[in-house]
Order: sequence, then C-alpha cells, then structure tokens
Amino acid sequence: MKDSIKIFGPATVSNVGPGFDLLGFALEKPGDELVIRRNNGRGLTLINESGFELPLQPDRNTAAVAVRSLLNHLKASDDYDIIFTGKIKPGSGIGSSAASCAAAVVGINELLGSPLDIRSLIPFAMEGELVSSGTIHADNIAPALLGGFVLIRGYDPLDIKHIPYPDDLWCALVHPEIEIKTLESRKLIPEQVRLKTALEQCGNLAGLIAGLATSDYALISRSVRDLFAEPFRTSRIPGFESLREKALEAGSIGTGLSGSGPSVFSLCRGAELAESVGRAKLDHFRRHQIPCNLYLSRVSEAGCRIV
Ligand code: HSE
Repeated sequence: MKDSIKIFGPATVSNVGPGFDLLGFALEKPGDELVIRRNNGRGLTLINESGFELPLQPDRNTAAVAVRSLLNHLKASDDYDIIFTGKIKPGSGIGSSAASCAAAVVGINELLGSPLDIRSLIPFAMEGELVSSGTIHADNIAPALLGGFVLIRGYDPLDIKHIPYPDDLWCALVHPEIEIKTLESRKLIPEQVRLKTALEQCGNLAGLIAGLATSDYALISRSVRDLFAEPFRTSRIPGFESLREKALEAGSIGTGLSGSGPSVFSLCRGAELAESVGRAKLDHFRRHQIPCNLYLSRVSEAGCRIV
C-alpha cells in the first residue's frame, strides 16, 4: 500500500461563453500539484509549499473541505498531510480551487485503493468549491476530474456528459494580474433574466454545442456569447470589448471571460492562430500596463493524474 502520492489537477475554462455553470473544459497547462501523505495519527494537516498565500485551517481550505467530505463518506480516518507544491494563482478564473479539490480527492481515493470511480468523486470535490464560490457548481470540477469538454446538463441529480469538439480546437488564454474572487463576482449577476435574453442564451448554448460537435467554426463563432454573467463582470478588465475585437481580428473564433475572470479565453482553429491571438491579447494588456501570462493549449483529454 502506498504511503504518499503526487497528483496534478489541470486548470479549466468554465462557462465558455453561454454555458454559465454548465460548460467547462480542461487545459493541458497550467495546473495544481499536490502531495497526499499518510501521517500516522496527526489528523488532516495542510502544508503550503506553493509560494501563494492559502488558508491553512482545514475548514477554510477548499481541498481540505473536499477531502473531509470524502473521508466522512468512506468512514475513513483523516490522518493525512496535504502538501500544496504547485498552485495556479488563486482568483485567476481558471479553476484554481477546483484543480486542488479535484487533485486532493483523487489522491485520497488512490491511497485508499480506489473505492470510488472518478465520476463518483465529483460531489465531494464540489463541496470544496462551495467554500470559494459560495455556490455549488461543477463546471470547473467536472472537467478537472474527467478531462475533456464537459456539459453539466443538470445539477439535481447531477447529469454530466462529455461533448465532442474539433481535433484542431485550441485555446489561447491570457491571465492578467488582476484578482477577482468568484464569491464577490457572483454577487454582481442579476437573479432574474428576461425571456428574450433567456431565449438568446439558449440559442447560443445549443449553437455552441452543435458547432463543436460538427466542427462548424462559423456556428461556434456566432454562439460564444454570454448574456447572463459576463456583461456584469467585465468592468474589471480594461477595454474588454476592444480586447475581444483584437482577438477576433487576430483569428479567434470566440472570446470571453474564463469563469468569473480575470483570465480571458479565446477559442481558435489550430496552434498558429492561437499564438497570434495570444500575442494580440498580450499586447492589449501591455498597453494597459497589466502584466499577464499566456497559455496556449488544446483541450486536455486527461483530467487529474498521478505524477
Ligand atoms: N461558473 C462559475 C461562475 C465559474 O461563473 O461563477 C467560476 O469559476
């Protein structure tokens, strides 16, 4: 029986335009890395070697909450160290809390001899996500655990499906150094929408899924537009509409906030266009004197994995 294990949990792009709380995909990079180690009777202990500030009280740390929920369900002891060795910057909009919740439950499950399959781990990882966003949502957790491009068709009961996407789909993602907390940013979203807006959003969501499944890039391009959340969240991103225009001119087929932001994703056809789009977005943030990182990635078929 293993005493310790190291897990990588991928970053994820959630919402993906019209799929607020319903769509997400895994990236090849960046991601979180953590080690889970048996600790012979010391109880759940968090050790931060990530270089970022993290809450280390088990009831405030997202990964620890997820782990506790799984261990309670399995009626197993909580004598483990969780060592955070590599973190996506918290508040980045690419699922940093989901990556660590997902990696942590996968690690515990492995050390216990895999009593649950990966899909069954989703609700436990979601418990951790509740701490950071204030609501249960699976659009980062599900792709972080399962990999691929994922639709959450429903939450009660959970109904999660992989959706097909074109082979040459790439994502150019820019993470500007602006911190946005999901918990705060969810408060900006109106509780109610007009029927006309809901219809337009449904059309976009259906169009995006149909476009992805049939490699219809023009349809994808017409469909990557969110009316529920994004319009109320972009004020923190300087010149957001002009950024979207520049990405489009450089060849993007759809640009939007990744999760609650500040990261901005652009879907692109092929690696070369993804690079040009990424450069255009870097240039935009440079003009606004905001440092940022660029990640170019395909959709990752793999979710959390042992390293
Ligand atoms: N769907 C969530 C939201 C993702 O938009 O609040 C948060 O990362």
